[in-house]
Amino acid sequence: MTHFYCALFVNFMFLCLSSASLPNFVLLFADDLGYGDLGCYGHPSSLTPNLDRLAAGGLRFTDFYCTSPVCSPSRSSLLTGRYQTRTGIYPGVLYPDSIGGLPLNETTIAEVLKPVGYATAAVGKWHLGYGANGTYLPTNQGFDQYLGIPYSHDMGPCQNLTCFPPDIKCFGLCDVGTVTVPLMKNNKIIQQPANFLELEKAYSDFATNFILTSAQRQQPFFLYYPSHHTHYPQYAGQRAFGKTSRGPFGDALAEFDDTIGDIMNALENTGVMNNTLVFFTSDNGPELMRMSRGGNAGLLKCGKGTTYEGGMREPAIAYWPGTIKPGVTHQMASILDILPTFTSLAGAKLPSVMLDGVDMTEHLFIKG
Ligand SMILES: *[C@@H]1O[C@H](CO)[C@@H](O)[C@H](O)[C@H]1NC(C)=O
Ligand SMILES: *[C@@H]1O[C@H](CO)[C@@H](O)[C@H](O)[C@H]1NC(C)=O
Ligand SMILES: *[C@@H]1O[C@H](CO)[C@@H](O)[C@H](O)[C@H]1NC(C)=O
Ligand SMILES: *[C@@H]1O[C@H](CO)[C@@H](O)[C@H](O)[C@H]1NC(C)=O
Repeated sequence: MTHFYCALFVNFMFLCLSSASLPNFVLLFADDLGYGDLGCYGHPSSLTPNLDRLAAGGLRFTDFYCTSPVCSPSRSSLLTGRYQTRTGIYPGVLYPDSIGGLPLNETTIAEVLKPVGYATAAVGKWHLGYGANGTYLPTNQGFDQYLGIPYSHDMGPCQNLTCFPPDIKCFGLCDVGTVTVPLMKNNKIIQQPANFLELEKAYSDFATNFILTSAQRQQPFFLYYPSHHTHYPQYAGQRAFGKTSRGPFGDALAEFDDTIGDIMNALENTGVMNNTLVFFTSDNGPELMRMSRGGNAGLLKCGKGTTYEGGMREPAIAYWPGTIKPGVTHQMASILDILPTFTSLAGAKLPSVMLDGVDMTEHLFIKG
């Protein structure tokens, strides 16, 4: 396949020359963000200058799908290129007291890329299992490093989850019967309860530091950033609180967007932007039962928890300046296609299992 692309796409020649120029991958994954939630998909009051920049300079999908209308199954498909029915992570989500997780014999994108020399890191909400002694955490699934919360931020008492300033209590209730949500560094708890108001800054520092370190080493890298935003209950720390005219949902989205901006700046400042594919999408549709706190599916029917379009069809953007032409594509694609696509671009070996996704490089690099 590599030879095929070398012949077809002049832009691509550099990929074939040496492994020193293997592309970097940054995979941004929003939580419960609907088809109608971004300005570039028609929302009138979201404030996402950095995602807008990706959309304007990249390829925006109109027909991009997840594989499940809830978190854990969707994440398992994203990272393995396989339907959740093959890995067993379905039909519901994992809870803090779940004993299972994504089986260790499944091959994740990180495990595909490591053998060809990639540095790998995950930052954010994992939600593919914790397990006894952290068996199912990212560092056992191909990621060299991890910083984040192991499941959703409403899966623990959230009476302290205030919106900034701290005297404004968050809307709604979380799971008061369970332990407080921990912040993990690799497979160690470094803070419990996690300080949510400072979490985004910790993520941003971790992600930008990973990019800087990898760029300095001239090592290709894979950064996976599944955000807890814009899952319920929506809130934002000081940097984004009150920034938008869309209330807590808008602020949560703006806080996520700020971190994306930090990541983009790090890619530019370290000179690796033109050798990096940034891919953005969301795990499932908006949680409409939360009303104005629950996101927006645009003109699509229903949302999270349903297999109508609103639950399954997602915003998606592929950005790679100089290599992916800005535009809009109506090509149908899904999160299953990410693993085969990254594998192909990195010249890595596909896992020898039944895959459900296909390599979508020919749709990313439109001719003419
Ligand atoms: C992983 O192990 C389980 C249990 O032995 C097995 O059923 C499954 O097919 C294996 N999956 C892969 C991808 O090898
Ligand atoms: C977890 O770690 C403890 C202490 O090292 C050990 O005794 C226990 O057997 C481990 N449990 C599992 C399931 O690996
Ligand atoms: C709430 O904050 C207080 C003071 O910082 C802390 O002692 C307590 O553990 C927190 N509770 C939860 C459920 O986060
Ligand atoms: C990156 O690519 C863009 C678009 O092709 C080009 O304008 C810019 O000069 C390139 N930057 C570097 C550092 O090569």
